[in-house]
Amino acid sequence: MAEKLWDGRFSEKTDQSVEAFTASIAYDRRLYPYDIAGSTAHCQMLARAGIITDDEANRLVTGLETIKGELDRGEFVFDDSLEDIHMHIEARLLEVAGKVAQKLHTARSRNDQVALDVRMYLRDETRRIIELLQRLRTVLVDLADGHRDVVMPGYTHTQRAQPVLFAHHMMAYYEMFTRDQARFGDCLGRIDVMPLGAAALAGTTYPIDRAYVAQLLEFSSVSANSMDAVSDRDFAMEFLAAASIGMVHLSRLSEELVLWSTSEFGFITLADAFATGSSIMPQKKNPDIPEIVRGKTGRVFGALTALLTLMKSLPMAYNRDMQEDKEPLFDAVDTLKACLHINVQMIPRITVNRDTMRRAASVGFLNATDMADYLVGRGMPFRKAHACVGNAVAFALDKGCELDQLALEELKRFSPLINADIFDHLTLTHMIDRRQSLGGTATENVARAIGDARKALDG
Ligand code: ARG
Repeated sequence: MAEKLWDGRFSEKTDQSVEAFTASIAYDRRLYPYDIAGSTAHCQMLARAGIITDDEANRLVTGLETIKGELDRGEFVFDDSLEDIHMHIEARLLEVAGKVAQKLHTARSRNDQVALDVRMYLRDETRRIIELLQRLRTVLVDLADGHRDVVMPGYTHTQRAQPVLFAHHMMAYYEMFTRDQARFGDCLGRIDVMPLGAAALAGTTYPIDRAYVAQLLEFSSVSANSMDAVSDRDFAMEFLAAASIGMVHLSRLSEELVLWSTSEFGFITLADAFATGSSIMPQKKNPDIPEIVRGKTGRVFGALTALLTLMKSLPMAYNRDMQEDKEPLFDAVDTLKACLHINVQMIPRITVNRDTMRRAASVGFLNATDMADYLVGRGMPFRKAHACVGNAVAFALDKGCELDQLALEELKRFSPLINADIFDHLTLTHMIDRRQSLGGTATENVARAIGDARKALDG
C-alpha cells in the first residue's frame, strides 16, 4: 500500500473498503496526458514567478516526462490506495525525482487540478467531434450530390405526403449536423477557460501568474472567480446537451435507415460489410449499425441527466460528489465519437434504390396538394380547392386508381376549372420543380444547397 500524501492529521489508516469506494483511478487514468501537461506548465510558472528555482522546475519537468513515458508504454503501476490520477503521478514523482516532488503541489489543489484536466480533455475531444461532424456532413453532401435526380415520397405522420428529392431529404440532415457542429463550437469557447490557480477554492497567497499558465496550455482565457473555477461543471453539461441533441439527430437518421432497408420500404440497401446476419435465420441481413446507434442514444441522454442531477444541489465550492462527473462524460464522448465514426464509414456505402423510391412517390395521392394548387391558379380559393380535391381523392380511392389516372371528364366533374393541362401539374417532375420557394425541394434549390454546403465545408 502506498503512503498517503494527505494523512498528517489522521490517527488510523484508511480502511481498505474506503480506498476501494473512493478511488477513481480506474477511470480517471485517461486524464494523465492532461494532468502531466498541466503539472509541467504549473512548474514552469512557479519557476518564472520565483516560487521555486529553475533547477527545481527542470527536475520536476524531467520527472514528469519520465512518468509520461511509463504511462504511454503501459508500464505505470496503479494502486487504489492512491485514489486518483493526480495522486498517482505525484506519488510516482517522489520516487522518480526525489524530494523536489514535494514542491509540485505548491499554490495548487486537486480541485483546480481536476477542473483543468477535465477541461483540457474535453477541449481535445470536442475538437475531434467537430472534425467528425465535418466528415459526416461531407458524406451526406456526397450522397445527396450523387443522387440529385432521385425522387422519393416525403412523409408526415409516416404517411406519404408530397414528393421530395432524396437529396433534399439528405440535406435536411446536413443542416441538423451543421447546427450540431456549431453548437460544439460555441461550447468549446466556454470549455477553453483556464481554472488553475483557483487552488482549493479561494485562490492562493503565492504570486502566481495564471495568464502564463493559460498561455503555455493554449487556453483562450482564465477563469475570473476561484470558487466558480473549482465548482463549475456547466461546460460539461453544455457539452452533454450538445452531444444529446447530436445523438437525437443520429438516432432519427438511424431510424430512417432501418425503415428504409425493410422489404416493406426497400428504399435503400446497406452494404454487406455494414450489416450483420442472424444466428438462426439464414436469409437475414440486419441493419444492426443504425439500430445500435439508435440504442446508444439513451446512454448519452443518461449522461446529461446524471450530470444535471449530480450538480443541482451542490453547495459551493468543490464537493467530492463531483468525481462522479467523469464516467458519464467519458462514456458520452466515446459513444458519440463511435456513432459519428461508424456513420461516416457506412453512409458512402449505401445503395439508393431509385426506382423503388420513385414508384412509392407515384402512389398514394402525393399530387393532391398540387391539384389543389392548380385550381387556386385558376382562381379558386385554397380551402375550396382542398375540399374539391378531397372529393376527387375519395372518388379515385373508390375506383382504385390515382388522381392522374382519372379521365379528364371524370376530373372535370369536380370542377369546371380543370383542363387537360392538369396532367402536367400532377407529374413528379413538375411537383418537385415548382417548389422553388426558399428552402423548398426544387432541383434548382437543392443544387444550390449542395453548392453552398460544398463552399461551407471547404471554407
Ligand atoms: N478525484 C477527484 C475528482 O475527480 C479529484 C479532486 C479531489 N479533491 C479532493 N478535495 N478530494 O473530483
